[in-house]
Amino acid sequence: MANATPFTAFLLVSFLCISSYFSFSKAENTALPIVSGLSWTFYQKSCPKVESIVRKQLQKVFKEDISQAAALLRLHFHDCFVQGCDASVLLDGSASGPSEQDAPPNLTLRGFKIINDLRALVHKECGRVVSCADIAALAARDSVYLSGGPDYDVPLGRRDGLSFATRDATLQNLPPPFANADTILSSLATKNFDPTDVVALSGGHTIGISHCGSFTRRLYPTQDPTMDQTFAKNLRRVCPTENSTNTTVLDIRTPNKFDNKYYVDLMNRQGLFTSDQDLYTNGKTRSIVTSFAVNETLFFEKFVVAMVKMSQLSVLTGKTGEIRANCSVRNANNRSFLASVVEENATSEY
Ligand code: HEM
Repeated sequence: MANATPFTAFLLVSFLCISSYFSFSKAENTALPIVSGLSWTFYQKSCPKVESIVRKQLQKVFKEDISQAAALLRLHFHDCFVQGCDASVLLDGSASGPSEQDAPPNLTLRGFKIINDLRALVHKECGRVVSCADIAALAARDSVYLSGGPDYDVPLGRRDGLSFATRDATLQNLPPPFANADTILSSLATKNFDPTDVVALSGGHTIGISHCGSFTRRLYPTQDPTMDQTFAKNLRRVCPTENSTNTTVLDIRTPNKFDNKYYVDLMNRQGLFTSDQDLYTNGKTRSIVTSFAVNETLFFEKFVVAMVKMSQLSVLTGKTGEIRANCSVRNANNRSFLASVVEENATSEY
């Protein structure tokens, strides 16, 4: 009996260590609601290695260039907000007209080749069963995790769209960086995001870069009074003119690390875009910014909820859409895909 107390304490400490290790290693988000047609175990039989293939390959890519993590996170956001997460943003323009990629907010997107390379690796292992839209969602998740953010499960089963959105639809669905918080809140409310989701999603700006043109109207002709003086001075050095083509980081504290420092930036008036900084100025979002700045675990938790929600916007499932053989072209326009289908049919006849 005398030994029971230290032993019990040992057991308790061991249990706490083990359980906290597991609970921090992956957000337990599979209780979150998912739309019909998507599932947490979609490729369990048809492509059980898809997630490990994507993660391993991205580990290699990011070892060479960690800035690509931001590119892939933004790609998934731009895919989902315009016409749903259907990989339409990955389609090249066709003879019939310019693609979503040619619309102004998408001109600075990067990472298209990384997605197509992932697609090739996955299809080599499993055949043409995994959609480009699912690969983009997994790549965004792994970008967050591999740059220091939370790990979480992504519901899968999206199919690829057959058409891309117009320039107008793209502009209408992606708010500009000069929008204030009220505009961002009402724009995202149309997609069912509440203020906590909006502030959490904006935390995507904890990694990555921006071109001068996205924020120089805060510097010229007059400086935005909500911007810290020293921060503004340094930005004027990077962007000496309004249309300079240089780039700078979105989060000055830890530009390549997925953490809560973006919110600390905002509290110090060092947010790069009006759409960022105004989240701290606006009374509807200010306390949410502060709560994330002081509690990274809370930010990670709310970010996962909002990302899983975003990743399900207007998805195509079941028999709608298709599984593209090349993420940049739909199958009907893909000559090598069509040739291989003809060959398959020809061989199967004999
Ligand atoms: C809420 C409204 C948003 C606005 C107005 C906005 C605007 C922008 C702009 C203007 C850029 C820089 C483009 C350039 O000049 O190169 C950018 C970059 C970026 N955005 Fe957003 N964004 C928003 C939401 C989001 C969301 C929801 C995410 C992800 C969850 C996100 C992730 C990123 C990332 C990671 C980059 C850096 C990309 C790179 O390094 O290539 N943004 N955003």
